[in-house]
Amino acid sequence: MSFSEIKEPIKQELEQFEEHFKGAIRSKVPFVDVIARYIVKQKGKKIRPILVMLTAQACGGINTSTYRGASLVEILHTATLIHDDVVDDADTRRGLASINAVWKNKIAVLMGDYMLAKGLLLSLDNDDFQFLKIISDSVRRMSEAEILQIKKSRDLDIDEATYLKIISDKTASLIATCTRIGAASATKEPVLLERMKEYGENLGMVFQIRDDLLDYTGRKSITGKPTGLDVKEKKLTLPLIHSLAKAPNNRSKQAIKIIKNGASNKELQELVNFAYEFGGIDYATKKAEHYSSLAFKALEALPTSDAKEALREFVKFVMERSK
Ligand code: IPE
Ligand code: IPE
Ligand code: MG
Ligand code: MG
Ligand code: MG
Repeated sequence: MSFSEIKEPIKQELEQFEEHFKGAIRSKVPFVDVIARYIVKQKGKKIRPILVMLTAQACGGINTSTYRGASLVEILHTATLIHDDVVDDADTRRGLASINAVWKNKIAVLMGDYMLAKGLLLSLDNDDFQFLKIISDSVRRMSEAEILQIKKSRDLDIDEATYLKIISDKTASLIATCTRIGAASATKEPVLLERMKEYGENLGMVFQIRDDLLDYTGRKSITGKPTGLDVKEKKLTLPLIHSLAKAPNNRSKQAIKIIKNGASNKELQELVNFAYEFGGIDYATKKAEHYSSLAFKALEALPTSDAKEALREFVKFVMERSK
């Protein structure tokens, strides 16, 4: 199933979401509104709002609170990306110049805060306290993980268990929030709510492992963001973590030395080859498959529907995605 076929059960709702999102981040301050409109122009995949809608649909049906949930998660996600590009020193996002590249770090940091505040206000103004409870914990986890990730890149001593903890907190937590909020907007059934959270957590793990693989193997023209940046930023992800543990000592030492000194483009290619040679790329792919099967399993609790089928296909899409 293609990505547009996955979106088919919620096609109309998604159009309404776009309008809702645009309206929700508007500012009366003209300069802030210029940046807000630029953010709307940076078109992302919208996987988080799509997940909110599909899980709501699969758990009983979309209603007005589902739309607010979808806008909330996309606004918070966008805020974290704006901050992420400052932290990672990235100049491109969604195929356009990043906010920090256009307006510098100071504005990007504050614009990220503005988006965060707008997201929270949207929920507060509508008494969506349950959404706020779910999402605030995930924002805490994301911040802690980003800080730990910086510490690990400075010390260059990350192991697989720490990597898995970091990606669970920085990425899977928000994706689980999406599936949880979607479900919560449609049902009170505790078993369904729990299963949808489990689905989101495991899907989120697949999503970030795939993102980290794409940083090695992807193309900027397709992903819309820089490639090879993780290694340049000394951020070790699963393919290298695994290969560093498996390679002979002298080869690992040599690789670490290159990373420490800041890899050139040629050395970057050598490191990618190193990740292939000692099984890291294969291993990360296998690990993603493992989390995929857990995500499929969590879906079994749902009654049969087109939305359930789309959620199944979503897992395959995330496994195979090239953007
Ligand atoms: C990027 O997320 C950040 C990660 C968690 C890897 P997406 O790949 O969903 O970004 P957009 O919204 O489509 O740009
Ligand atoms: C995910 O990590 C970012 C967040 C969870 C905010 P990355 O730093 O790998 O995301 P991209 O690759 O820049 O989108
Ligand atoms: Mg980044
Ligand atoms: Mg980052
Ligand atoms: Mg990445």
